[in-house]
Amino acid sequence: MSTALLYAETEPFEDGRLAFLRDVLAGLGQRPRRLDCKYFYDEEGAGLFDAICELPEYYPTRTELAIMRENLDEIAECIGLDTTLIEYGSGNGRKTRLLLKQLDGRCTYVPLDIARQSLEAATRRLQADFPHLRIHPVCADFTQPCALPEPAFDAARRVVFFPGSTIGNFHPAEAERFLRRVRQTCGRNGGLLIGVDLKKDPGLLVPAYNDARGATARFNLNLLARINRELGADFDLDRFTHYAFYNPQAGRIEMHLASLASQIVQVGGRSFRFNLGDTIWTESSYKYTIDEFAAMALHAGLRLDQVWLDDDHLFSVHFYRGL
Ligand code: AVJ
Repeated sequence: MSTALLYAETEPFEDGRLAFLRDVLAGLGQRPRRLDCKYFYDEEGAGLFDAICELPEYYPTRTELAIMRENLDEIAECIGLDTTLIEYGSGNGRKTRLLLKQLDGRCTYVPLDIARQSLEAATRRLQADFPHLRIHPVCADFTQPCALPEPAFDAARRVVFFPGSTIGNFHPAEAERFLRRVRQTCGRNGGLLIGVDLKKDPGLLVPAYNDARGATARFNLNLLARINRELGADFDLDRFTHYAFYNPQAGRIEMHLASLASQIVQVGGRSFRFNLGDTIWTESSYKYTIDEFAAMALHAGLRLDQVWLDDDHLFSVHFYRGL
């Protein structure tokens, strides 16, 4: 069976590995030590993230799906028919399936994802279910500006789909810059359909990132395993632990990996010393109120058109139009 051609490569393999090494060395040299959360998503990590989405404590995925299911008519109306749907971080494509079904496959779909094999597999599955859908997958890092394939511009308008509150990974200043790029991509008569996780009782928020089964811990620690696999480092996974908490001043969940010992780790011919309790900050997940988010989007040239919520106001789905 023929797969749709992947339009763009992020980078040739060796360049990708070099960039990874460069970022890891730079991040471990900083204080606080950090690693970019985009590196969670190798094939292993993409699978571990899918497991997180099934957790009882991890409310965002199922709540967003329920909100979308409840409001599919209105959402599809916002998207319109002669549209190219561009999805950033398309992952396993489950939410997209809902939209495409509602749109009856009558749009052009451009999924962008950093994990090549899952992107290819998701594209094959989607094409099998929607034989007439035009799919133009792009393997790329959406945190960097990237050109879209030409067919993306054939339809009357472009709508960016950015579900899952992935926007929460950006620092607010970065998020606004990103929204400005989205506004450039979708143009004046285009739009943005985005999932935004909401500020709430930390008693609900914190367990979503500290699940009883340890799936989030495995996801976090896989980053060190990946550095060992791909960069020949010698992180001892038994001597680091998952540590996630809510920072109310900053309005974000912070995920860290904390050293359980005083130790030295070798990465790319360099030594990094950790004292007991030192952490590597691996992810931020910012939470917003609807007003906070809409104000930021307005700054970026996007006006809030509609917002849909679950009854408990855990999560929100917004539609913006380009100004
Ligand atoms: C994919 C960024 C939305 O922040 O909730 C889940 C990633 N990290 N559990 C989130 C994540 C730990 C997730 N996003």
